[in-house]
Amino acid sequence: MGDPIKEYRLAKEIFRHGRDLILSDEAQKMKSFTQHGMTSVFEHTVSVAKYSLKMANVLEKFGAKIDRRSLVRGAILHDYFLYDWHEKNEFHRLHGFTHPKRALNNASRDFELNDVESDIIRKHMFPLTPIPPKHIESGLVCIADKWCAICETFKIDISSYIIYRINLHHDIARGRVRLGHLHQHKENVI
Ligand SMILES: [Fe+2]
Ligand SMILES: [Fe+2]
Repeated sequence: MGDPIKEYRLAKEIFRHGRDLILSDEAQKMKSFTQHGMTSVFEHTVSVAKYSLKMANVLEKFGAKIDRRSLVRGAILHDYFLYDWHEKNEFHRLHGFTHPKRALNNASRDFELNDVESDIIRKHMFPLTPIPPKHIESGLVCIADKWCAICETFKIDISSYIIYRINLHHDIARGRVRLGHLHQHKENVI
């Protein structure tokens, strides 16, 4: 886990940019599918959003202009394929190559996407899919995705605190927890 203060700020930013996505029943379905190891697809996308923002912070110090809102929204939706790719069948054997297109189709059906967000989703598996990212934001998600996948596969905890914070934002926004009951709630969700 990183510095809790920084994680707290990153969680606030992720929730601010991705609020409507995170609160949607559609995106919440990603919690029911496993991505790598013990990590759900939803948790994976939060982790990818976090590391994309951390890299954006570094690049911005060197003068890069980054659309942080699209970066977060694209990261949250980059694996919005909505099926269990571990189930053995012919289609899932090609999951690595085909899921970006499936995720993009689902995301553009359920949400309004801009060009940067679409590019993030479509290109995040580069170089496995051959067309390279067009935007700096797509490149960041592409790199963050690989880093998170490695850590999740080897069960290295890099994002449990920020995932907890995002779920807390979600529960507060949906009225499932009142601020006065946070302590009690925390024990329930950990
Ligand atoms: Fe993916
Ligand atoms: Fe991913």
